[in-house]
Amino acid sequence: MSCVVIVGAQWGDEGKGKIVDIYTEDAEIVVRYAGGPNAGHTLVVGDDKLVVRLLPSGILRPQTRCVLAQGMVIDPDVLLGEVDELIRRGHRDVEKRLCVSDRAHLILPYHVLVDTLREAAPGGIGTTKKGIGPAYEDKARRTGVRAGDLRDPVRLGQRIRAALEAWAPTIKHLGGEVPSAEEMLAKLEASTKRMVSLLANTSLIVDAAVREGKRVMLEGAQGTLLDIDHGTYPFVTSSSAVAGGASIGTGIGPNRISTVLGITKAYATRVGSGPFPTELNDGDGQHLREVGAEFGSVTGRPRRTGWLDLPALRYASRVNGIDGLALTKLDVLTGLSRIQVCIAYDTPEGRTEEFPIDYLDVPGVVKPVYQEMPGWSEKLDGVRVLDELPKAARNYVRFLEEAAKVPLFLLSVGPRRSETIVLHNPFVGRAAAP
Ligand code: IMP
Repeated sequence: MSCVVIVGAQWGDEGKGKIVDIYTEDAEIVVRYAGGPNAGHTLVVGDDKLVVRLLPSGILRPQTRCVLAQGMVIDPDVLLGEVDELIRRGHRDVEKRLCVSDRAHLILPYHVLVDTLREAAPGGIGTTKKGIGPAYEDKARRTGVRAGDLRDPVRLGQRIRAALEAWAPTIKHLGGEVPSAEEMLAKLEASTKRMVSLLANTSLIVDAAVREGKRVMLEGAQGTLLDIDHGTYPFVTSSSAVAGGASIGTGIGPNRISTVLGITKAYATRVGSGPFPTELNDGDGQHLREVGAEFGSVTGRPRRTGWLDLPALRYASRVNGIDGLALTKLDVLTGLSRIQVCIAYDTPEGRTEEFPIDYLDVPGVVKPVYQEMPGWSEKLDGVRVLDELPKAARNYVRFLEEAAKVPLFLLSVGPRRSETIVLHNPFVGRAAAP
């Protein structure tokens, strides 16, 4: 049995797309279990690059079945737009290999409207404005519209009317205009038939695949510190991004998961507001943003950048049960004369090696304690084995691995697929060719 969860160990954007792409070579099914079009990763189609927000990267592999599971919130227009774009680029079988849980919740235009109006008002947290939060709010309030409701036009109309009634005071309060149910239904009409043809009981499909011994990958979105329970609340997304969310969001038992792979950059980034104790606002931060091309793939916003936070990484390792780490973007550190790593925190109660998440609400209460390490100037893109790394880079990697107390499964030294050192492949139990 090999059912591997891939999770972000930071605030998202850890480079999951490339790692998922490398390991999907060995996966028969790739499942997205949480979030929606707030995620974004780049697919390479021949010489073309395409950023997708909903489709897993496995969609380009002819042997891979792709599942959007019930923990997700799905905007039908975004999904069918991505499918059409891939068909336009010659991937004609996309719809045959894709299925969507009939229990996944739909993001409808009023969710995007509320998200956008809230972000324009004081107190916005810097969301992606894709309607994610309001769609999950509808789910918890029991006024959500599920993908399976598309099968029954009468029920669909009732659900949308009830949701609009519930949202009307909020929309008016925010200065917006409440759309009519008829308008919503007319918009959905164009996509309903195609959406319905993709629907399935995906929990059954994934559970059967795991039982049959197929290689299943559960692809996380966002990151641990954006998780609704374990993140830096309230500056978080609205879903369970952690590995436990993979079981709930997919509809398989937690004991079906065989490996949890955590992804971390060699430094840290965050988009949107919220605590980021190791943030840099100097030349080093600028270096990380420019060399690392740290601009949001969904919104284009410049990402905030900072040093790697080891207490946060150990925290992520604990709440996810990380078995192995993929360390990405090590090459971005090339050219820095010295590198800092946060190894502990000074808090009002003294020094701690734990991530002081409960103190982060008030800026300045905790202070990161740094260890300085020598940098290196050599390019890393040609390195294919750990021993070829410059000494300072090798020391940095070894230090992180020991301090995180998790073995390294993979090291990424450049954006290309070939610029990777795979030390362990959880699907095959041995190193795969990069
Ligand atoms: P939402 O998920 O659009 O509601 O945004 C909530 C917070 O999560 C904001 O700070 C976003 O910037 C952040 N966020 C959501 N998705 C991602 C992602 O894929 N990468 C990084 N940050 C994200």
